Amino acid sequence: MGIPIKNICCIGAGYVGGPTMTMMASKCPDINFNVVDINEERIKSWNNKNLSKLPIFEPGLEELIIKTRNKNLFFSTDIKEAIESADIIFISVNTPTKTKGLGAGKSSDLKWVEASAREVARYSKGYTIVVEKSTLPVRTAEVIENILNSAKTNSKREEISFDVLSNPEFLAEGTAIKDLDSPDRVLIGGENKNAMIALGNLYKAWVPEEKILFTNIWSSELAKLTSNAFLAQRISAINSISAICEVTEADIREVSRAIGKDSRIGSKFLDSGPGFGGSCFKKDILNLVYLSEYFGLTEVASFWESVVQINNWHQKRISEIIVKKLFGTVTNKKLVILGFSFKANTNDTRESAAIHICRNLLNEGANLVIHDPKVNSSQITNDLKINPTKLIDNDNSSFDKKSGTWGFSKSINNNEIFNNSYAVIILTEWEEYRKLNWKLIAKKMVPPAWVFDSRSIVNTNEVKDAGLRLWRLGNGLSD
Ligand code: UDX
Ligand code: ADP
Repeated sequence: MGIPIKNICCIGAGYVGGPTMTMMASKCPDINFNVVDINEERIKSWNNKNLSKLPIFEPGLEELIIKTRNKNLFFSTDIKEAIESADIIFISVNTPTKTKGLGAGKSSDLKWVEASAREVARYSKGYTIVVEKSTLPVRTAEVIENILNSAKTNSKREEISFDVLSNPEFLAEGTAIKDLDSPDRVLIGGENKNAMIALGNLYKAWVPEEKILFTNIWSSELAKLTSNAFLAQRISAINSISAICEVTEADIREVSRAIGKDSRIGSKFLDSGPGFGGSCFKKDILNLVYLSEYFGLTEVASFWESVVQINNWHQKRISEIIVKKLFGTVTNKKLVILGFSFKANTNDTRESAAIHICRNLLNEGANLVIHDPKVNSSQITNDLKINPTKLIDNDNSSFDKKSGTWGFSKSINNNEIFNNSYAVIILTEWEEYRKLNWKLIAKKMVPPAWVFDSRSIVNTNEVKDAGLRLWRLGNGLSD
């Protein structure tokens, strides 16, 4: 008989924990899933009857929430109770890059993981399988195990025992539900076969057996970092080639299509854009860099660090091109920014290229009007660390003649956002930006007005026929 699983707890109700537990709950109706978080607001939002108020936007999530919430999926702040009753505990808390101390700027801050492990050691009963789900540096499972065992000894709770497994998440934001529903693989790393089988059985409810891979714990942790590093490396590679295209009259989209047809290379992750963002890529590569440095592998460290450096350089390069094309100055010029999330179909802005590009333009004195269909004004304020200027009529006059300010526009429907602007800068590939009426927009702008398309989504003929100048990333034939 295998290990019986009736109750599952997930610590952390964020971009990973929320959707993952919702999917599991929908596939395993006989098991109870308790998702807990210290953030009361977040839990309130997960429990909000109005589904548009869920804390994260993810296509397909609302339907699954309707199916499972308060049936076998519960969101709460009662961490103690959820841990006490759990047979399996997923740790899905945030692990941002450390900002100070040893390993600052490279290694992950594990303080939230540590706090979660301590809570588990304090409240768990009997035998518990603890699963690391957050993206973590290699050897974190060992850290969790040490914390659990020392807490157990210190509190003289000899009746409790644990197995720690690594089960990294490969979902991408914006397609999380699809990725969770039909994953390329499920990776389970550990030592105790029975615990690994118990976790594997959960996934077997909907994932074909041959896609469930069992490895040792370190391979599982390293595979997660390496997957993200390889994907990010493709983006830095293609973005570096986009710069060559711009000076040689080649077109990066044609180059991508041509190389992607080579079945050894494949067509995915070859879209050049404003640089990769998101909570994982940079953090995971920096963890790899830190790990390599720690073991004295300096060449390996600098190889991977260059993937991040190209990304930083690329974002700066785009900002500089914008300034250069606008006659070398953007001071007091109104520029319209379309898209702030790090990619389409998510409200997440972590490490978004838009943050860096907007900050560069604000430093140059530009006045920005920012639109994003899912990111709100307060999130942008947090990211830019500058309060917005109140926009009265989406007109330049409302900027009060100050330079280096920004305003938020809720809508682009009536095209007012474009009044008196010098340029439109597309940073996220939201569907609605593909359908803009450039003839109407051009009439509102200050000639010679520019469109900067960093995602290659506009219809070039429509933009040019409207009398606008167009710069497309990686296209040497643009204006
Ligand atoms: C990534 C991994 O894909 C996922 O497996 C892992 O679990 C978490 O990290 P995510 O960060 O959500 O997922 O998004 P992803 O789709 O990988 O995009 C990351 C960044 O790369 C985005 O900024 C995106 O715009 C950019 N990107 C992606 C490109 O610039 N070009 C591409 O061809 C693909
Ligand atoms: P990810 O993208 O990895 O899911 P998020 O930041 O979206 O990261 O979510 C992590 C969640 O974990 C946050 O909602 C945060 O409040 C929660 N969290 C952090 N530490 C703890 C803890 N000790 N106990 C419970 N929840 C925690």
